[in-house]
Amino acid sequence: NFKLFIFDLDGVLTESSEQHFLAWKKLSDELGISIDEKFNDQLKGISRMDSLERILANGGIAENYSKKQKEDLAARKNEYYVSMISQFTEENLNDGVRELFSKLKKHNILIAIGSASKNAPLLLKKLNIEKYIDYIVNPKNLKSKPAPDIFLNAANKWSIEPRDCVGIEDSVSGISSIKSAGMFAIGIGDQKVLNQADIVYKQTKEVNLLDLLK
Ligand code: G6P
Ligand code: MG
Repeated sequence: NFKLFIFDLDGVLTESSEQHFLAWKKLSDELGISIDEKFNDQLKGISRMDSLERILANGGIAENYSKKQKEDLAARKNEYYVSMISQFTEENLNDGVRELFSKLKKHNILIAIGSASKNAPLLLKKLNIEKYIDYIVNPKNLKSKPAPDIFLNAANKWSIEPRDCVGIEDSVSGISSIKSAGMFAIGIGDQKVLNQADIVYKQTKEVNLLDLLK
C-alpha cells in the first residue's frame, strides 16, 4: 500500500541531467581534462562537490587545487549550469509527469522530491509543478546518495514506513540509495545500467501506476 512517491528530479522529471553534463564538460575542458557521457553516469545523483572531486581525480589533478580553489571551480560549474537552464519552462517537463502527478493525487498518495541538487526549488518553479509537490528534501547536511538519507528524510517527514514508499531514479547511486532505504525502486533509463531497481522503464511516461498499485 504505497503512501508516498519520492521523485528524483534531474533525468526523471526533466532532462536537466544533460545541462549538468554540459556544464561539467565546459569546466573540464577549461581544466584540460576530458569527460564523456559514460563517465558522466557516475556523476548522476552525486553532490556538486563530490562530482568535482571525481572529475579532478579522473584527470589526475586533484592535488593541484586547494579547498578554496575547488569551491571556486564548483561555483563556476554552477554558474554555467544555472545559465544553461535559464530558458527552461514547463515545456521542459518530461512527457507523462503531470499526468502521473494527477493520478497520484487522485489516489491520495503523497509526492516528494528527493534530489541532491541545491537548484531543485528553482527548477521545480521553472517547470511549474510546485503545486503538486508536498515536500522537497533539503540535501544540505544529508549524506549523499548512495546513502539512504535523502529518501529516508522524506519518509520521516510523515513517519511513513519505507516499505510504503516508492523512489524513482535515473542514476545508479540513486537506485542504491532507494534500496538501502528499504523502499520500492523504479528506475528510469537502461535496464542493464539500473539492474538493482525493482522495475525499470525507459522513460517516465511509461510508469504504469495502476500496475504498481496492484
Ligand atoms: C543531482 C544531479 C547531479 C548534480 C547534483 C548536484 O544529483 O543528478 O548531476 O551534480 O544533483 O546538483 P547541484 O544543482 O546542487 O549542483
Ligand atoms: Mg537524476
